[in-house]
Amino acid sequence: MWLPKAFAAVALLTAGRVAASQGGGSSTSSTSAAADPSVRPFRLDQVRLGDGLLQEKRDRIKAFLQVYDERRFLVLFNNVAGRRNPSGVTPPGGWEDGGLLSGHWTGHFMSALSQAYAEKKEDVFKAKLDWMVAELAACQEAYTAGKNPTHPGYLGALPEDTVLRAGPPRFALYGANATTNTWAPWYTQHKIVRGLLDAHYNTNSSEALRVAVKMAEWAHLALTIGDKNHPSYAGNLTRSDLNYMWDTYIAGEFGGANEVYAEIYGLTGDRRHLETSQAFDNRESLFGASVENRDILVVPQGKVPGRRRGQRLHANTHIPQFLGYMRVYEQSGETDYLTSAKNFYDWIVPHREFASGGIGGVYPGSDTNPELFQNRDNIANAISGNGAETCTTYNTLKLARNLFLHVHDASYMDHYERGLLNMITGSRADTNSVADPQVTYFQPLSPGTSREYDNTGTCCGGTGMESHTKYQETIYFRSDDASALWVNLYISSTLDWAEKGFSIKQETNFPRGDTSRFTVTGDGQLDIKLRVPGWIRKGFYITVNGESQPVEDAQPSTYFSLNRAWTTGDVVEVRMPFSIRIERALDRPDTQSILWGPIVVQTVGTPQANSGFWELSLYKKLKLDGDYSRGAIVRTSNTTTGDPLFTIVNPSNNETVDARPYYISNDVPVSTYFRRVEPAVVFGNIDTGVSNRKRNDGLPKYDVPVSGVASPGTDGPTFLDVVWDQAPFATHADFVGAVGSVLDSFVAAGVYSGSEKDTILAVAGEAEEELKL
Ligand SMILES: *[C@@H]1O[C@H](CO)[C@@H](O)[C@H](O)[C@H]1NC(C)=O
Ligand SMILES: *[C@@H]1O[C@H](CO)[C@@H](O)[C@H](O)[C@H]1NC(C)=O
Ligand SMILES: *[C@@H]1O[C@H](CO)[C@@H](O)[C@H](O)[C@H]1NC(C)=O
Ligand SMILES: *[C@@H]1O[C@H](CO)[C@@H](O)[C@H](O)[C@H]1NC(C)=O
Ligand SMILES: *[C@@H]1O[C@H](CO)[C@@H](O)[C@H](O)[C@H]1NC(C)=O
Ligand SMILES: [Zn+2]
Repeated sequence: MWLPKAFAAVALLTAGRVAASQGGGSSTSSTSAAADPSVRPFRLDQVRLGDGLLQEKRDRIKAFLQVYDERRFLVLFNNVAGRRNPSGVTPPGGWEDGGLLSGHWTGHFMSALSQAYAEKKEDVFKAKLDWMVAELAACQEAYTAGKNPTHPGYLGALPEDTVLRAGPPRFALYGANATTNTWAPWYTQHKIVRGLLDAHYNTNSSEALRVAVKMAEWAHLALTIGDKNHPSYAGNLTRSDLNYMWDTYIAGEFGGANEVYAEIYGLTGDRRHLETSQAFDNRESLFGASVENRDILVVPQGKVPGRRRGQRLHANTHIPQFLGYMRVYEQSGETDYLTSAKNFYDWIVPHREFASGGIGGVYPGSDTNPELFQNRDNIANAISGNGAETCTTYNTLKLARNLFLHVHDASYMDHYERGLLNMITGSRADTNSVADPQVTYFQPLSPGTSREYDNTGTCCGGTGMESHTKYQETIYFRSDDASALWVNLYISSTLDWAEKGFSIKQETNFPRGDTSRFTVTGDGQLDIKLRVPGWIRKGFYITVNGESQPVEDAQPSTYFSLNRAWTTGDVVEVRMPFSIRIERALDRPDTQSILWGPIVVQTVGTPQANSGFWELSLYKKLKLDGDYSRGAIVRTSNTTTGDPLFTIVNPSNNETVDARPYYISNDVPVSTYFRRVEPAVVFGNIDTGVSNRKRNDGLPKYDVPVSGVASPGTDGPTFLDVVWDQAPFATHADFVGAVGSVLDSFVAAGVYSGSEKDTILAVAGEAEEELKL
């Protein structure tokens, strides 16, 4: 950990289905439902995972949940409620050790147990969960009866005061002093209520809902009347008090607390809970800016809005707030909440997203806290050892998923898939452990750094338990009127859509393979919408009962609709050939990642170059089709589980570098980014003798300065980058034509002289043999 554990910064987030966007007709909003989504998820119990990568990762976490002693989660709650504990049972440890974040892990564990139960209804998970819910109910009752609380209904692993002191008149700060400081107390409240609501949704526990509603009633009093017995009490909380609280670093971190109270409003119709949800509006420094689409995640010194926020906002504090705004929108219909979430998401994706789907890092001149947002468009200069925090991806996936329910833009699912199949699968070690969840906190971005897996008691340990037990949540969605089925993800699974009379079995070893086969059981009209991923480069092919469908025009990042009358036994086959793609960092085009379909391919080992990066030259190996897999980055073998392994040959010295999918999770040093070094304009092995210069695109262009880096700068793509971006070329003449037009633009921009142009063009004309397929 990058701070001492007892005092480390936290992160955030939660699980979320909203009442309104809760799957399939469960007991949702009896109330307004003003802005019910037009697309809805299925309940977790309606989709079963088949064999494959995700099932393997999930089963490792399920084994942990199954064996880990649930009594450990009650120890601190019992202490606070004045109840006895069995001897010899200790709290989990980590941040769940009696320190000021205690209680959060109990909530995560309940969410994870309920999710683990949902799919196959294995009793062991429900028995543990039922026991925890009953014990927590008893703690809640005992606390209210025995501790003379400020308000009834409190439940926590720490005294009520640790939450109340975050508000007026004390406005406690983040720190380790158990009597004066606080540590994200509303974050912890969120996790516990989230766990109870998940128990309600996934196991039909009415007791869990009852406890959650009482907690919500307490929360309403805590955020309206507040700390009424304090000697300096000055009356009900004001909007200004609330704004001040939520802008306080870590002490004001509330996860997605606003989502759960809005959900409880949806479940109960009691308007107080919608008010509680809106009490969390971060009105002073962020909400208004997000509605107006002013990106203020990082601001220059001297331009910090609000009384209490810093220059850079803490990523995992703020992302889940927008999940809550989505819930408020769904329950109230107030469109500002949706607008704010959409805009906020767009500030992150793509402007702050690493190839893996993570966010954060540090950059020269900023402080050293990698949990904070990087400045806009800063990727290459934000690469650091303690790079992306895993929780941030857990949360942006939830945000993308929830936005998609209202705005059916396939790019949200492209992000979801990228984060899921890289950061999230990559967060779980490929080993068994029943003592420790074996998940990551930060996923390092500095080249040649290995991931570390443990995280008992941390934020990422908590969201980690959840991520791997809900892999089926986004594979399929349905339209509200049940006329359409959205297939968002290619993941081995079976959907049981009993209300509609359809069951769909999807057989695939994606992402180890790039085909998927769907077998339909059920008869009748249904519009099956298949996602055409944003990364396809070699076509997207569909057959129905062996007959090709007219998908030639399907554009990447769309859905292809198969609207027809189906009969039991119908088979849909999808083929979406993977290809190697290179993605360039937004701010520094020579800093690049390799992708194989949706998968980031990491180089293996410790780079020796002075830059610290692997330095690779790849253009010599390209032929007319521009396909890197033809000679530059070659699939050379497979693991026993079918994971592709690649070898890259550096043509300047014939050294080889191995590369493998991001999701392979052990402690080998790996790199997500490499440096592209292409000094000369070459066509195959023919060197033109002219250097491969860069176009000045004014990169980097940061919104907030980085020490030692001019912005706007003079960086940009190289001549060969721009030429090969136009591949594939049907003929050598097409290639020469492209070289000519790029040369014209580079000459016009003053990058090349007329004679250099002539030289390059002449050699391009002579390179027909070199470039032939
Ligand atoms: C916590 O703060 C109080 C009040 O400032 C102080 O009296 C106490 O000694 C502190 N405790 C610790 C452990 O530092
Ligand atoms: C949920 O529980 C209620 C009562 O506790 C019961 O009436 C209902 O049938 C249950 N629903 C399911 C799907 O188990
Ligand atoms: C304080 O808040 C409570 C709601 O919890 C409300 O009933 C009461 O009227 C408020 N008091 C004042 C003076 O606004
Ligand atoms: C790896 O497996 C794929 C099928 O999954 C196969 O097509 C390919 O030939 C294999 N490659 C090697 C080098 O074994
Ligand atoms: C790389 O290997 C090839 C084939 O063995 C050889 O022709 C070439 O000269 C080597 N290049 C270098 C830089 O060693
Ligand atoms: Zn975290």
